[in-house]
Amino acid sequence: MRHLLSYIILGAIAVFLLLVAAFFAWIRSSQLTITTEQVVAEYRSLPEDARRTAFEWRDPGAGSYITNCRNCHGPEGKGWDQYPGLGDSARLSSRPGGREYMIDLHLYGITSDRWRAPMPAFGTMPDEELAAVINYIIVTFSEPDSMPEEFRFFTPAEVEERRGRAVSASAVNDLRPSPAE
Ligand code: HEC
Repeated sequence: MRHLLSYIILGAIAVFLLLVAAFFAWIRSSQLTITTEQVVAEYRSLPEDARRTAFEWRDPGAGSYITNCRNCHGPEGKGWDQYPGLGDSARLSSRPGGREYMIDLHLYGITSDRWRAPMPAFGTMPDEELAAVINYIIVTFSEPDSMPEEFRFFTPAEVEERRGRAVSASAVNDLRPSPAE
């Protein structure tokens, strides 16, 4: 009888802990989804000509970086082990062909001999989120003074434009410009 009671109590504790875990998982996922969905909805409700200037990328870009990129590129974008730091992002995207490279490596992934790991494709993300996270890494992690004054931020329309190509991850690497000045 005692055994039965302790099993019931243990079972109840286990169920309780599972419910708590599920509750926190639910809160976390719903917050993230709402943020991205709100940004996408707000952006799409703007008139065409306002989209270029009014695109609010900072918060969604930061949120997306934490969820999707931080594990590999590190909390400060410095990279580690086989994952590159992102300090060249402004320089790379300012070179001829650099904007296409920057977008394609996110849409289609990239693999090269420089690093011992490939980067997976993020083509399932909405255009708004991709443009946001690209702007975020460029502004946040580029080496000091490497940001050109006339820098044009990436827009969702620019990302959309590069979709639907059959590009392999190693072909994306062929687009990489030299980051040197
Ligand atoms: C699973 C690990 C992983 C994740 C997640 C990841 N990356 Fe990468 N990333 C890599 C690797 C590895 C490379 C280098 C690939 C190569 O050149 O072989 C790379 C390359 C890059 C480059 C090009 C760097 C250069 O010098 O050319 C940028 C920019 C970049 N990642 C940004 C991001 C962003 C933004 C995210 C999130 C949306 C992200 N990465 C998510 C592993 C990852």
